[in-house]
Amino acid sequence: MIRKPIRKAVFPVAGLGTRFLPATKAIPKEMLPIIDRPLIQYAVDEAREAGIEQLIFVTGRGKTSIVEHFDTAFELEATMAGRGKSLDVLDATRIQPGNLVTVRQQVPLGLGHAIWCARAIVGDEPFAIFLPDELMIGTPGCMKQMVEAYNEVGGNLISVLEVPEDEVSSYGVIKPGAKISPSLTEVIGLVEKPRREDAPSNLIISGRYILQPEVMRTLEDQGKGAGGEIQLTDAMARMIGTQPFHAVTFAGRRYDCGSKAGFVEATLELALARPDMADDVRVLIRRLAAEID
Ligand code: G1P
Repeated sequence: MIRKPIRKAVFPVAGLGTRFLPATKAIPKEMLPIIDRPLIQYAVDEAREAGIEQLIFVTGRGKTSIVEHFDTAFELEATMAGRGKSLDVLDATRIQPGNLVTVRQQVPLGLGHAIWCARAIVGDEPFAIFLPDELMIGTPGCMKQMVEAYNEVGGNLISVLEVPEDEVSSYGVIKPGAKISPSLTEVIGLVEKPRREDAPSNLIISGRYILQPEVMRTLEDQGKGAGGEIQLTDAMARMIGTQPFHAVTFAGRRYDCGSKAGFVEATLELALARPDMADDVRVLIRRLAAEID
């Protein structure tokens, strides 16, 4: 069956990043680098690999450097070119003219509200959502795996992964239904940040979504949920039963870059995977490990 393609992706990037203060006082948390690429770049790369054309950033005050990162830096390029330096390193930052759109979320009312702020740009087509804090590394990437699943089952999809039971209360948690394949499960319920004893499973929403545009109408009158915020999870939960909902278990590695330890973990593992750094980093990690023991 031919499905409407997923051409647009929403990146909610208006958050204040208080967990990383003071680093994030003047720099958006999405611009913190894992080695030499800002977090947002990893999410955008994953989106483009999945065939997404239009990037919609839901931004706020102090976030302009995210947009500038994907702009042409004329002085930089002219200077580098004049010095005979290759500009290839900037390739990933180039966006087709017209394919980067920003909308503002003026007040931080929650993830659901941030997504709803993009409703006019999303229009009447299915779209993807990326939470850039969640760094997903895989071959193919997480969103590409989800688009492949979407082409099979259509409807709405969320990426999930298992966490220890004592961590479920920090996330959105799914109630799984029938297993369609080893990596695809029906979703029959969703709860945002449940208490451990109330959690329907230990499968958490890991920051990647493919949603039908009806979610915008559901968000329209969505009341406040967990943490006093307008939650995307609550709006999705209300759509279950009216539309197909599936969970994709991502085959790959996920790093929680919203936490400092996750950030360090991502930095080390990605450095180990880089041919230009792996040898040096291996020596460094061995030395550190020896000092710990
Ligand atoms: C958000 C979502 C939650 C999801 C999480 C993934 O929560 O509301 O459902 O599991 O991202 O990181 P937040 O981290 O914004 O509190």
